[in-house]
Amino acid sequence: MAPSAAIVILTGAGISAESGIDTFRDEGGIWSKVNYRDVATPQGFARNAELVQDFYNQRRRGLAGVEPNAAHFALAELERGPFDDFLLVTQNIDDLHERAGSRALAHMHGELGSALCTNCGQRHRWRGDLSRTTPCPSCATAGYLRPDVVWFGEMPYWMERIEAALARCDLFVSIGTSGNVYPAAGFVDIARAAGAHTVELNLEPSQGVTLFAERRHGRASEIVPDYVRGLLTGR
Ligand code: NAD
Ligand code: APR
Repeated sequence: MAPSAAIVILTGAGISAESGIDTFRDEGGIWSKVNYRDVATPQGFARNAELVQDFYNQRRRGLAGVEPNAAHFALAELERGPFDDFLLVTQNIDDLHERAGSRALAHMHGELGSALCTNCGQRHRWRGDLSRTTPCPSCATAGYLRPDVVWFGEMPYWMERIEAALARCDLFVSIGTSGNVYPAAGFVDIARAAGAHTVELNLEPSQGVTLFAERRHGRASEIVPDYVRGLLTGR
């Protein structure tokens, strides 16, 4: 890959699976245990905010017990490689990419480590639990802080930046995502229209596997470091 190359990487829950964070749609995944309509939609939050806060409180607490794996570290190393443009887009709301050293990172579905005030719109780094009456540090009103996570039906973050990077990229690599949810599932189409080489690195073929020019299937902690080594050594 020439040093002048522009690279966009997309990751999904599968890259964090080997770090011990459940995926959504695999056997025994999160959506087989809880209905996404109850905990990942604005309607669910309006119906039962306590249930939603607790769902994300449990996932936020879980971050303390997990570590980035070799796939996260490989992407941080790739970012430091000799490329003109690099953007890592993640659908994940965990902080494993940051903890592995990634910096050029866009959390399109938000972050467990951030809370959003629906009264004043301020975002706050957040480590602890959220309840129905947690006051906002900025406007001091109680009961308006929600998880800073993009729910079904809401618009993802960073879309202008992501679409601009896709429209000029030479290489698009999709890692650990089932290709179920738009707009992320459509990124490969934008990259192909830009003439980019498109690669899927996933445990098994995703919904959109036929759209990719190259596909490697296996565990992210094995196939991602191997793929990155090839890019960095020109092999
Ligand atoms: P969508 O149509 O893009 O996705 C709906 C998805 O829900 C389907 O692709 C399917 O995978 C999933 N789904 C449907 N029935 C399900 C079930 N019973 N159990 C589990 N999953 C099920 O969603 P939308 O309502 O059009 O919203 C799209 C927007 O929501 C996008 O902006 C996307 O980024 C955002 N989003 C956020 C989250 C999140 O939890 N953070 C999840 C999905 C979508
Ligand atoms: N290595 C590589 N890929 C893996 C591994 C692994 N060890 N384990 C699982 N996978 C793959 C699965 O084969 C699957 O294709 O990761 C993918 C996980 O798919 P999903 O569970 O659907 O997760 P994701 O694609 O990230 O979901 C997208 O949906 O519910 C929303 O907001 C949520 O961001 C999420 C979005």
